[in-house]
Amino acid sequence: MSWEESTREKMLHLKLPTDPRWVDIAEMQLEDILVDHAYCEQKAASSCISLILRFNDLDEIVDTLTPIVAEEWGHFERVLEQLRKRGMKFGPPRKDEYVIKLAEFVKKGGSRMQQLTEQLLLNALIEARSCERFKLLSKNIADEELQKFYYELMISEAGHYVTFIELARKYQDADKVNRRWQEWLEYEAAVLRQLGVRGDRMH
Ligand SMILES: [Fe+2]
Ligand SMILES: [Fe+2]
Repeated sequence: MSWEESTREKMLHLKLPTDPRWVDIAEMQLEDILVDHAYCEQKAASSCISLILRFNDLDEIVDTLTPIVAEEWGHFERVLEQLRKRGMKFGPPRKDEYVIKLAEFVKKGGSRMQQLTEQLLLNALIEARSCERFKLLSKNIADEELQKFYYELMISEAGHYVTFIELARKYQDADKVNRRWQEWLEYEAAVLRQLGVRGDRMH
């Protein structure tokens, strides 16, 4: 079974496909996309570190997320390498309106496990959308090295997506997690609609 088949059930639940114009605009603004992407990888690593620190008593969280930090940082290094070899400049982070908007949906209060679920689902959602965008890039941009690069990242982020969802279902009632996941998916689609198409951002 191909990767696509094996993860279709788990993966393709995003409620709004990316506007097909995005990949064309993104390709024309490759430097912006790579810089924004580098910071996405940094944020992915940082958010796993935060979860490890906050839930240090949960062995499975600590032990599962620790290698993911290393993977995300490895992705950061690889994006930086792609920038350097093209003579493109790294620079300051851009305001990440997508993640800011998503973070507004995190439920305040509740039990500690509910807080954990919220964070895991937030991470899962960003992984799912990144995966969808990497797939578009890998299939549509002209640069063959980047096609392969994005394909590899798509596989890796799909694995992270599954890991986050499975962790959430481990620490909270699976039906509750599934119901909340549907709310997150609806909300994310509304956020994307509101943000519109921007070629200088990964999301
Ligand atoms: Fe990554
Ligand atoms: Fe990831």
